[in-house]
Amino acid sequence: MNNEVDIKDKRFEIFISEDEITSIVTDVSNRINNSGIKDPVFIAVLNGSFIFAADIMRKIIIPNTEISFIKLSSYSGTKTTGSVQKLIGLRQNIRNRNIVILEDIVDTGITLEKIILLLKKENVADIKIATLLFKPDAYTKEIPIDFIGKSIANDFVVGYGLDYDEIGRNLSHIYKLKE
Ligand code: IMP
Ligand code: MG
Repeated sequence: MNNEVDIKDKRFEIFISEDEITSIVTDVSNRINNSGIKDPVFIAVLNGSFIFAADIMRKIIIPNTEISFIKLSSYSGTKTTGSVQKLIGLRQNIRNRNIVILEDIVDTGITLEKIILLLKKENVADIKIATLLFKPDAYTKEIPIDFIGKSIANDFVVGYGLDYDEIGRNLSHIYKLKE
């Protein structure tokens, strides 16, 4: 195992091994499987959650499970209001469906709150949230997170889908920034 990895100007050290990730993912999928949710539509938030989503989906045994991928994209609404965000990629009709959002990491919760706001406009039946990693000390929102893989300190992490400046998503372990 590589204990350290350099990405651009920063050095990262091993934090969560591939084996530990596997057991976290198994645990989260068991909890989702046992939650009683019916005919779920999983919505994976790109780019970061693509590996987590792929691993979790293969462990979900709920009948009629579907998955869709979205991205939160910034665009200039008007010249005066500046940046507005919208969801891209959502094709299928999710009206009255039970949604499970799949996130790689929830930090301040700003992204998550925006996604929930935009999904609610689609008149979904229910929204649950599953995240691999959660930074409780950075979280600024009240929205409860239903399925948390692992809570971590306010460290910057890369690997298993998570990036530093778009690099590091391919790493099979999760690394944290070395102090
Ligand atoms: P939030 O809106 O502050 O919750 O942050 C959401 C996004 O910031 C995540 O979906 C990630 O893309 C990114 N992010 C937050 N913390 C980390 C980290 O430690 N490593 C890599 N990306 C992160
Ligand atoms: Mg993300």
